[in-house]
Amino acid sequence: MARVRKAAGKTVRAATEALPPLLADAAALRRRLQRWYARAKRDLPWRRTRDAYAVWVSEVMLQQTQVERVRDFFERFMRRFPTVGDLAAAREAEVLKHWEGLGYYRRARQLHAAAKAVVAEHGGEFPRSLEGLRSLPGIGRYTAGAIASIAFDLPAAIVEANSRRVLARLAGHDRPVGGAGDEPIWELAAAIVPRRGAGIFNQALMDLGAMVCTPTRPLCERCPLKGDCAAVAQGRVAEIPVMAAPKATKEIRETAVVTRCGNRVLVVRRGPGEWWEGLWDFPREPRSAAGRRVGCVSYGVTHHRIACTVVERRVGRAGAVPRGGRWVSIGALEQLAMTSPGRRIARLLGSARPTP
Ligand code: ADE
Repeated sequence: MARVRKAAGKTVRAATEALPPLLADAAALRRRLQRWYARAKRDLPWRRTRDAYAVWVSEVMLQQTQVERVRDFFERFMRRFPTVGDLAAAREAEVLKHWEGLGYYRRARQLHAAAKAVVAEHGGEFPRSLEGLRSLPGIGRYTAGAIASIAFDLPAAIVEANSRRVLARLAGHDRPVGGAGDEPIWELAAAIVPRRGAGIFNQALMDLGAMVCTPTRPLCERCPLKGDCAAVAQGRVAEIPVMAAPKATKEIRETAVVTRCGNRVLVVRRGPGEWWEGLWDFPREPRSAAGRRVGCVSYGVTHHRIACTVVERRVGRAGAVPRGGRWVSIGALEQLAMTSPGRRIARLLGSARPTP
């Protein structure tokens, strides 16, 4: 078994057991990868800086959102909150507003909380160690590794969907990945990450996964690591990585009620424990509710598929407001941080006929 150097304080072995050739010539593999990256890397806005704050914002955005979508959001966010101090000083509603369209708002809330912690507890400087970074709200193993390696050039490993696929194929790792199944991949990543230039190495793995070692129809003939790859050698590229079975989809039906008084509508803020906590939406009622049907929006949240009928109820007087609710003019909805179905419902109103 290849005994490899210490990573994160313990000697790494497990997934490397099947990989003596890979690790035996890890230095040559890294060189091939780095040469490829120097010529093929994607020009991404967050790669023009090594500022820990910018790296952190980009990595949080990239966690559940595609690179192309993140580009514009990242630049807009950084213009509005150029430093961790600016973000810490902002009101949550404004942070959420700048997050709108990226989804998974919990990330934005945690980003805001962590910015406050960096300012209050670390004098506005990011801790320069994995443990220090991980002590911040919402910063887990992946984000800490990304900041540590990219901003501080610490030899920290990271595993995300693209690099996981590259590593699993290199290793011929044929057990299911995802959740606890990623542990051997983390071990391999830790074993292979260089002592210097870890940030470049990590991003090169991600780019290789995004551009060459793709989920379907990978371009193995163009891969700088094809000679190192167990999946190529075994003719099993299409089978690896083995994905754990996805959770069954759950179908839900609901009705969104737009209570309208003249040009104003009633909106409610999503409460703790609800999806999209802190964002505005139209109240929901069980399956069917009275009112004039104005349309239907369907959307997915985690493994739920939701079909939402939208009904409108006109009232002559703005009556009692439910807890967490408020009346707003249809024109002012644009300024509110809304859930994505809420925003789509608001757009339906925009296209509905004008108030008589
Ligand atoms: N996905 C997650 N982090 C990334 C990065 N730094 N570059 C490109 N894709 C990524």
